[in-house]
Amino acid sequence: MPVPLLDLKRQYGPLREQIREAIDRVCDSQYFILGPEVDAFEREAAAALEVAHAVGVSSGTDALLASLMALGVGRGDEVVVPTFTFFATAGVVERLGARPVFVDITLRDYCMNPVAVAAAVGPRTKAVIPVHLFGQAADMAAFVDAAGAVPIVEDCAQSWGADFQGRVTGGLGLLGAFSFFPSKNLGGFGDGGLITTGSGELARVLRELRMHGQSGPYEHPRVGGNFRLHALQAAVLRIKLPHTAAWIEGRRRNADRYHVLFAEAGLDGVVELPEALPGRGHTFNQFVVRAPRRDELKARLASQGIGCSVYYPLPLHQQPCFAHLGHREGDFPVAERASREVLALPVFPELEEAELATVVDVIADFYRSR
Ligand SMILES: Cc1ncc(COP(=O)(O)O)c(C=O)c1O
Repeated sequence: MPVPLLDLKRQYGPLREQIREAIDRVCDSQYFILGPEVDAFEREAAAALEVAHAVGVSSGTDALLASLMALGVGRGDEVVVPTFTFFATAGVVERLGARPVFVDITLRDYCMNPVAVAAAVGPRTKAVIPVHLFGQAADMAAFVDAAGAVPIVEDCAQSWGADFQGRVTGGLGLLGAFSFFPSKNLGGFGDGGLITTGSGELARVLRELRMHGQSGPYEHPRVGGNFRLHALQAAVLRIKLPHTAAWIEGRRRNADRYHVLFAEAGLDGVVELPEALPGRGHTFNQFVVRAPRRDELKARLASQGIGCSVYYPLPLHQQPCFAHLGHREGDFPVAERASREVLALPVFPELEEAELATVVDVIADFYRSR
């Protein structure tokens, strides 16, 4: 039985009518950029995320970029980032002429090692960006300690709905950057993003930045960009938002089932499953295991029609575009090891029990047949 890594059609089916009505509403209004749908979505998102301000933007990447712009990050500045994350976390730093200061991770949560963060923060540090990777909140208490007075921008692209000790991600730092890329826990019908903050002043600046830095008609106190959220995306996201808690429950249920099925198949100690750490509200945006002979296993799964993917095959300090930073293999050994061993398995909420069992059967067969 083939099992896809993600099948968004199963999510769309039950919501089809409502979503099409919402799209029609926008088409009838002919109001496509910002406007009442975006305002309403921002209010609803702010309430769901328990933050004072939410600013809709064009993507998660632009949410990070505009956040750093609002903090005045530029040439000569440093921003502390994990080396094991999606490219955008560090790419936005480089685009502003600042230096991404890479930090190694821990294998327990794939997030930055707080001890390494404390060592990386220096006089030029303008921000620290913890990434709540794979949908689990990073150890924010440790990062707040490590960052001291330096502002924290949370990369919440994968962590919609995750909480740290009862407080939702996005409200734990000075700013939070969300992505609505279709595969996220809350995904749009295209690109979209959101910035959260408790600061009214930063929210005001961000609203200017997303409109080319415009404070009033043809007045530009600072240079911004076109980082606006589209009304069609906001309308779709408004339909989906109330379902996110149930979808996350479905992901957690599937993660629990995997733990049982892997144990029953005798795979304990062979494949390392992700740990839902206490107080970290794991939402399983991805279910990432560490597996011996990962590439062979991946090929076996693919040959049986089982979707799987490697997030991330190369740590960012080894990317050619960051060669000028002078890093070499071995600088961040934990991230490098993770890149060799990680594999994401299907975990989306609509998966059937038989599909989960098939994934585990194929993996058990692989290790039995060596
Ligand atoms: C950790 C992380 N940061 C940033 C982004 C960028 O978001 P977007 O694709 O919406 O630009 C992503 C998206 O995949 C991500 O996973």
